[in-house]
Amino acid sequence: MKIAVLPGDGIGPEIVAQAVNVLKGLQLTVEMTEAPIGGAGYEAAGDPLPNATLQLAKDSDAVLLGAVGDWKYDKLERHLRPERGLLRIRKELNLFANLRPALLYPELASASTLKPEVVSGLDIMIVRELTGDIYFGQPRGISTLENGEREGINTMRYNESEIKRIGRVAFEIAMKRNKKVCSVDKANVLETTELWRQVMIELSKDYPEVELSHMYVDNAAMQLIRAPKQFDVMVTGNIFGDILSDEASMLTGSIGMLPSASLDANNKGMYEPSHGSAPDIAGKNIANPLATILSVAMMLRYTFNDEANAVRIESAVKKALSDGFRTADIYTEGTKKVSCSEMGEAVVSALVS
Ligand code: IPM
Ligand code: MG
Repeated sequence: MKIAVLPGDGIGPEIVAQAVNVLKGLQLTVEMTEAPIGGAGYEAAGDPLPNATLQLAKDSDAVLLGAVGDWKYDKLERHLRPERGLLRIRKELNLFANLRPALLYPELASASTLKPEVVSGLDIMIVRELTGDIYFGQPRGISTLENGEREGINTMRYNESEIKRIGRVAFEIAMKRNKKVCSVDKANVLETTELWRQVMIELSKDYPEVELSHMYVDNAAMQLIRAPKQFDVMVTGNIFGDILSDEASMLTGSIGMLPSASLDANNKGMYEPSHGSAPDIAGKNIANPLATILSVAMMLRYTFNDEANAVRIESAVKKALSDGFRTADIYTEGTKKVSCSEMGEAVVSALVS
């Protein structure tokens, strides 16, 4: 197992360190190599995705990523900003399928801002397309019009094969779950997503056992809060998926709990927490490392086909939670508030016991 470890910026290095310890705790034969990305890449090589980092990622079976971004880079030209490094590595590795599970651990029901009865038992898989849409569509840019006024342009676009391949991922996942796919679009207004809906309907003929439904994105945002347990698999484009997955994370108590996998057509993948670099709490050892640790479990499951060790990590996380350990973001009265590294240690010791 060859893994590229890209800690990135902000809390990235702290949370990745804990995830690496958990991986080491499994005592598998892994080769891990670290490289800079995002602001760290810019500092090291003047590029948010240095060539050496990209090459390492290409040569590895999987990538473990922390997070990118810091306010101090906000003034850089757009192509030098940390986020661009992340978007480029997704594109360069063809990681078109982003899986973001929103799973509520029963111990955290009271940490959610929603009523426990609304979220208890929640288990949603958000399948977000990751290499297309308005994130990458051309033309784009800011230009000056004849009258001297500036105009910003981005282009939402999807072709049929891009929609089909992400749709297949969603249907295949649904077959292993509760056989329900909800495709989220804005087909009442946007042609791009009108095509999205048509292609999903055509594709559904290959999966007669799966119940396909459609929802406009505004309604989906509302339904996620009103009655989130109606969803099994949600499939949507890049920008809607970005927004809905942040929303869904709060159902689970904290965005600090949400792992993610970004896969190519051969299940090579990049694994990262769904949250960002949180520069405001960086270096304080208070971040929640569980999303990153759970991302390692996804890595074992999806890239290395090692369900047993994936479950071992997930069970160790459950054990740490049921033993009462909580980082600040999921702390509630009566539990034990711990630091980032203490949470990591709690998971490692739950692995071996
Ligand atoms: C995410 C993040 C990224 C995205 C940013 C950091 C570019 O919000 O992974 O959800 O928009 O995809
Ligand atoms: Mg996001």
